[in-house]
Amino acid sequence: MNDSRLPGFHELDISGRIETLRQRGYLSADDAERLRGGHHVLSSAAADRIIENVVGVFGLPFAVAPNFRVNDRDYIVPLVVEEPSIVAALSSAARLARNGGGFHATSEESLLAGQVYITGAADAPAALQAVQVEKQALVDFANDVHPRLVARGGGVRDLTVELLELPDGEPLIRVHLLVDTVDAMGANLVNTVCERVAPRIASLCEGDVALRILSNLADRAVVTARARFRTDDLGGRGFDGDAVRDGIVTANNIALADPYRAATHNKGVMNGIDALAIATGNDWRAIEAGAHSFAAANGQYRPLTQWTATSDGDLLGELSLPLKIGTVGGTLEANASAALGLAISGTESAKELAELMAAVGLAQNFAALRALVGRGIQHGHMKLHARSLVAAVGAPDGVFEEVVSRLVDSGEVKRWKAQEILEDMTGTVGPRAAPNASAAGKVILFGEHAAVYGRHALALPIPNAVRVTVEPTETPTSLAIPNWGLAGKIDFDNPQGIDAAVALILRQLELLGKQFQITVDSDLPRGVGLGSSAAIAVALTRAICDVAGLTIDDERINAIAYECEKLAHGTPSGVDNAISTFALPMSFQNDGTLKMEPLTLTEVPPIVIACSNEVGLTSEQVAGVRARYERAPGLYDALFDEIDQISVAGVDLLQNGRYEELGLAMNVCHGLLNALEVSTPELERMVTLARAAGAAGAKLTGGGGGGSIVALCPGALDRVRAALREAGYRTLVLDS
Ligand code: MEV
Repeated sequence: MNDSRLPGFHELDISGRIETLRQRGYLSADDAERLRGGHHVLSSAAADRIIENVVGVFGLPFAVAPNFRVNDRDYIVPLVVEEPSIVAALSSAARLARNGGGFHATSEESLLAGQVYITGAADAPAALQAVQVEKQALVDFANDVHPRLVARGGGVRDLTVELLELPDGEPLIRVHLLVDTVDAMGANLVNTVCERVAPRIASLCEGDVALRILSNLADRAVVTARARFRTDDLGGRGFDGDAVRDGIVTANNIALADPYRAATHNKGVMNGIDALAIATGNDWRAIEAGAHSFAAANGQYRPLTQWTATSDGDLLGELSLPLKIGTVGGTLEANASAALGLAISGTESAKELAELMAAVGLAQNFAALRALVGRGIQHGHMKLHARSLVAAVGAPDGVFEEVVSRLVDSGEVKRWKAQEILEDMTGTVGPRAAPNASAAGKVILFGEHAAVYGRHALALPIPNAVRVTVEPTETPTSLAIPNWGLAGKIDFDNPQGIDAAVALILRQLELLGKQFQITVDSDLPRGVGLGSSAAIAVALTRAICDVAGLTIDDERINAIAYECEKLAHGTPSGVDNAISTFALPMSFQNDGTLKMEPLTLTEVPPIVIACSNEVGLTSEQVAGVRARYERAPGLYDALFDEIDQISVAGVDLLQNGRYEELGLAMNVCHGLLNALEVSTPELERMVTLARAAGAAGAKLTGGGGGGSIVALCPGALDRVRAALREAGYRTLVLDS
């Protein structure tokens, strides 16, 4: 597997992270697509087949931690967990562990004990003897229960029998069937074996079967992970490495001395283990039960780890715990998310996953103890809390990180403070907030798809949605779009994409050969139907003219951007570049030639745009509608005519601020787009959410199949925006 270090990964947006994992070979193209579209998530119907009385599906964050190296192999660790800081802590602990050679994990055996308890035996010693004598026959009988397990290389490996005593002094005979379940966790399998063998054992003991089920104290499936941390890596931020090392050793000793502390200490270990267990479809309650019973096996509840200083001054950590987990069967087959998590982990057997899991537990304990003996865990938590506050006050990507760090530094991690810092910073921050030029995105209010068939459409600009900073440089021309996770040198030989657009602009401006460092700050995500490619072309042309001291008019800029659009989309309508350049609302129609009519509005309409997590490929949606149109042109023409009427009437409603009627028209238009089959369940959810939060109207915008929605929200703009944000969607509003 490739190097699991992914510098800058956490700074990317979700689609940038997915793309990085795909490029690095940690995600297949299909899985990347599933993740982008949210198709890996269990449906309610599928959930209904797993447990009883299902009323829905409950979401949890799904993240990955890079940097892991275990037994000389690199891993990206999938994690499902709701607690902030865990993922960041794991990533950074794994990065430090690499410097000491990475994690080393071992597991000698992986046997699950099936238990059969017998009570009421009149002669307990004779019963024990009888079971001992018949041991091999019982093992053979048990193995006949699951011949396929034996064929896969598993089976019952051993049988032990013990005499225990019930609280009332009565004898209790315990038989353990030790089963190698290969790559399955094996709960059902072992329980079946127990149920089948129990009557035979009872008859040998001349007693009664009291219980027959597996034990989660899986002490015959113990995994140990070790890691060495260099003392030099432990210091920093005002702390001395030796002191941190000694503090961690002391913290471990405190947990050894006091079960109250050991419980919290082990909770930290389980923060990592459970998150990976859930992400890979494993039964984390079984793991928890095993871990804690193992921690108390010697009579006192103890830490699962040991931390010591080596003779050469490094810090050595070791974690041992039972991990009887699986990579086949159970949830994995029923839940596509679990299969995806397992695929990301890259593990090929239950043993390998258990070893990775132990390394993750050790990494999490290291990170927790390091934070506790340093500046405490609240700093990290505060940072995450600050991030959610900064998102809530609507800080744009360009200033987001700066607002977060000023908020944390202020010591007042409160919403009002975030607002104050944001207001204070607006227009006063470095190069990205003072770009050379900007351009508008576009949002279609009415007429998508129908416009392809000569009907009217109506679109609005999203002013200043893309800002570009250009600086002359001595180095080859480069371009970065930090919000998209893109950065690199321009390849002037590439006939496609952003490389070709930059080359085209420089050629048109007769500046080929000059070198520039270009930074694009885009509020518009990629591929969500908001005209990002045209906006970048327009802003970039303007910014380059600005640094080169060239004056060109908007007509020329529009023409250049149109040429760039051809590179991006083949046969563009010309609408995106015009709206981007002139930043005016436009009514347009193309019945052979494109006619555009700029509109004048007396106010900015109260519009919220929200981007779904699915990328909608306009060309695919247009082709799909075309195929259906050809099957039933009459039906489709009727739909297009209705959309046309709405688009024409919408101009008047918009110009006169008749928002309630305009909202209704949007709702109807959305219904018509749904009839064209370009909506998706996620877009439907978003539209419903916006309407429920008070929008007068809401519809998908652009090509559909993913992408964005637009909601008209007179008197409810903040409420609708907050509801969409809370549901995890990125939002934009139209500012003047
Ligand atoms: C919090 O989820 C986990 C810690 O409390 C673990 C510990 O105290 O070691 C930080």
